[in-house]
Amino acid sequence: MIETFKRDVERGLGANPKFLSSKYFYDKKGDELFVKIMHLPEYYLTRSEFEIFKKKSDDLIDGFDLDNQIPFELIELGAGDGTKTKELLKELLKQDYDFTYKPIDISKHALEQLEGSLKESFPELKVEKQVGEYFEVLTDLKNSGKKKVILFLGSNIGNLTDEQSSRFLKELSEVMNDGDILLLGVDLIKKQEIVLPAYDDASGVTAAFNLNLLERINRELGANFNLDQFVHEAVYTEEEGIAKSYLKSMESQEVYIRALDRTFIFAKGERIHMEISRKYNDRILERIMEGTSLEVRDKIMDDRAYFADYILVFQDRA
Ligand code: AVI
Repeated sequence: MIETFKRDVERGLGANPKFLSSKYFYDKKGDELFVKIMHLPEYYLTRSEFEIFKKKSDDLIDGFDLDNQIPFELIELGAGDGTKTKELLKELLKQDYDFTYKPIDISKHALEQLEGSLKESFPELKVEKQVGEYFEVLTDLKNSGKKKVILFLGSNIGNLTDEQSSRFLKELSEVMNDGDILLLGVDLIKKQEIVLPAYDDASGVTAAFNLNLLERINRELGANFNLDQFVHEAVYTEEEGIAKSYLKSMESQEVYIRALDRTFIFAKGERIHMEISRKYNDRILERIMEGTSLEVRDKIMDDRAYFADYILVFQDRA
């Protein structure tokens, strides 16, 4: 892990323009900051998707096309604290479906916490947590012989480029069988006045979330980034539909990274590109789904139409 981290940091800061990968945001402090982000007044994504699960779990379940008599697996990629999923679990249990909930996460700790809280809320629920990378675990689950409903929520796919997400959906569809479902939660393209503040909040939590990666590089790779010399910047246009985050160097400065034994030079005003958060519409989704056997069955939105959970079904045409 540390070797890949080192290599990625060297590649990103050695490039022109400079970049770092947002997948490294999530150390312990990064996880905590992301929880804070989800509660920010400006960050509408989590609340919008929660509203869908709270008010429209019935529509989601209809779209899964389940049979009460046939057991199925509800698999969640990157389960988090399960707040949204609990609404769906509650409804599935109420309607007497026979299923096992299989949350997948690389964090054993997160899964143990989730398991504990699920035991309390739903003692009758069958939970089989799966620690590991998504595809390792999914490959093992492919031939379970049971229908799969896979949840990938929170617009997590939006942190990938379209090329990466297209590859991701292809790999995911390799482990799916006819009639299996992918419930894909995505943030929708909308006006700048709504999207931009979600990535540039007034209280500065998103700035701290980005700066935390420099702090992580200082700690784990022995660097000397001066965090006061960088400011967070977010950009978004409705035409492009992608929120982008940067850290801008306030002064011309040098940063030494001991683990790489290398100095990186920053010009005054030079930016490090930190993250993309893609927003979607039907056309963009269709484009990234091209070449997979996935088809849109339904699209469930919150009342303001900020966020959508697409019900995608695997239809093997072979
Ligand atoms: C995890 N992911 C979907 C978040 C997003 O909205 O792109 C990460 C995030 N970055 C800044 N704020 C939240």
